[in-house]
Amino acid sequence: MQTSLVDRHAVERLLLLAGALRAGLIDALASGEGSSTDQVAGLAGTDPRATGIVLEALVADQLVERVSGGSVEALYRLTPLARAHLVDEGSKLERFRILHQVSKMRGWLELPEVIRTGRAAERSGVKRDLRTMVSAMGERDAAILDEIVECCFAYAGPIRTMLDVGGAVGHVARRFSRKGVRTSLLDRPEVLPVAQEFLGPEAGDIEMIGGDLTAGLPGGLFDLVYFGNVLHIYSPETNARVVREAFEITATGGTIAIQDYVSDRSPIAPMFAVNMLRSTDEGGVWSEAEHRRWLSEAGFVDATVVDLDCNRTQLVLARRPAGL
Ligand SMILES: C[S@@+](CC[C@H](N)C(=O)[O-])C[C@H]1O[C@@H](n2cnc3c(N)ncnc32)[C@H](O)[C@@H]1O
Repeated sequence: MQTSLVDRHAVERLLLLAGALRAGLIDALASGEGSSTDQVAGLAGTDPRATGIVLEALVADQLVERVSGGSVEALYRLTPLARAHLVDEGSKLERFRILHQVSKMRGWLELPEVIRTGRAAERSGVKRDLRTMVSAMGERDAAILDEIVECCFAYAGPIRTMLDVGGAVGHVARRFSRKGVRTSLLDRPEVLPVAQEFLGPEAGDIEMIGGDLTAGLPGGLFDLVYFGNVLHIYSPETNARVVREAFEITATGGTIAIQDYVSDRSPIAPMFAVNMLRSTDEGGVWSEAEHRRWLSEAGFVDATVVDLDCNRTQLVLARRPAGL
């Protein structure tokens, strides 16, 4: 059997799906129980010949099926597999994750220039799609989120209040809120409307704070200050400062939790570092010693690192000493 370094079919399938989603073909198919090429193209406003070619490729990949309707013209609809992954709310939905993966590819295509200059691709004109990125975060695997929440409670004990720093659409904050924790979320102001939309009626349960976490953290005292996949965007110097500021808003005896790719513990950290190289000026993956140093210099004690079972990243936990 011939072996290959790269699953080229997987790459093409990703691009095909993102193209069909962005062009509106998937939603056009989802709205009917069997539509002709012309009907799909009419609904999506796309070219019929191109639409037909893409529909046949989706059939070959078992994402679309032909419906036998006695008509000479083929009628198409989404397979249950495609509906579960691309349309229907539920644990399998990965619509935004697919779109985000392809958005990232724009930066990855600039990698030769990024390597040559050492500058992020976004600086050289590749625009970020913030809405897609934060919505993709909202599709994170429930098992990972459950594991994170469980580890935080196991370490911290009772948590009455928490701040989710860089909380995106509130997918983590919501899990704490559902457990009766009074929850606040900080993210960039332009992310908050996306979070409101994502959370629906539950948005009212979470205090939404717009701001720049590198310019300052909100006031207050929280039993848990949580950073999920945020500190890899910034330099060790910035992170040391942010962690010091986090100490000031952690209640005495309270907990700081950092979920991220710890460079010397996560097998996927080196590849993730390239992702940060192409997308940020100073981000990267940081070692266990660096995390421990930021925490101890800020005043936190009892630091511990948990290797998460569900996604090969880590949860770093530490405590503000009681009475300090
Ligand atoms: C990779 S997402 C992580 C989302 C979530 N915490 C999680 O772990 O699933 C990073 C989030 O941090 C936010 N963020 C990054 N830099 C920020 C800044 N300087 N101020 C506020 N939010 C920021 C982004 O908008 C985004 O929602």
